[in-house]
Amino acid sequence: MKLIVTETYEAMSRAAYGVIGPLVSKKKDAVLGLATGSTPLGLYRLMAEDRTVSYRDVKTVNLDEYAGLPAAHSQSYAYFMRENLFRYLDILPQNTHIPNGVAPDPAEECARYDGLLDRLPRDLQLLGIGSNGHIAFNEPGTPFDARTHIVTLAESTVRDNSRLFDRIEDVPKQAFTMGLADIVRAKTVVLLANGRNKAEAVRRLIEEDADPALPASALKQHEDLYVILDREAASLLHETA
Ligand code: PGA
Repeated sequence: MKLIVTETYEAMSRAAYGVIGPLVSKKKDAVLGLATGSTPLGLYRLMAEDRTVSYRDVKTVNLDEYAGLPAAHSQSYAYFMRENLFRYLDILPQNTHIPNGVAPDPAEECARYDGLLDRLPRDLQLLGIGSNGHIAFNEPGTPFDARTHIVTLAESTVRDNSRLFDRIEDVPKQAFTMGLADIVRAKTVVLLANGRNKAEAVRRLIEEDADPALPASALKQHEDLYVILDREAASLLHETA
């Protein structure tokens, strides 16, 4: 594990771009696993601003999508990705993949996504982490060998995500998520965390053994894992605090 502790959110984002930018410059047809949430927004701004890097042959695969929200819905992750990243890049829309939140047959949609993940081995997977240690929507207790599945969101996740909705009742209760088995298959994994409310999950990830109670700990055995933090997310670490 490469643990990088930076001073600020901006510095965390720059450190992440220091991994992703050179990858895409060097490998024109890279496959990127992307994430939604507040955490990667600074990184996405840096990707959008750098006109020297082309995404014409890049493919992307996202981690998750709310069940029941169509891609056009302003709270869907498909919408988030278009608004915060894709519209600034020369990426082809047909090369961007995300689970279909309104698929008529959810089991079939999970199988479709697994097939996609098999066909598109990711060079890099970007991740945030939930305050309860989830990655994507793999909530505590998810088996490490799970593939794409539908989850019922943990109460803490609904609460955390309600800041982006008008009312907490509007937060969807279920989501499609890439499973832990596929997340760890990416060649390189970059996990970002900023802010004090991530510090305990980060401490457990770094300092405790792998345990499904902390889904992010599925990453511990990964051979090319970057954990990039701001000072607050690192504040409970005994070695660097
Ligand atoms: P956040 O979400 O980036 O909005 O904090 C991260 C996550 O829940 O995985």
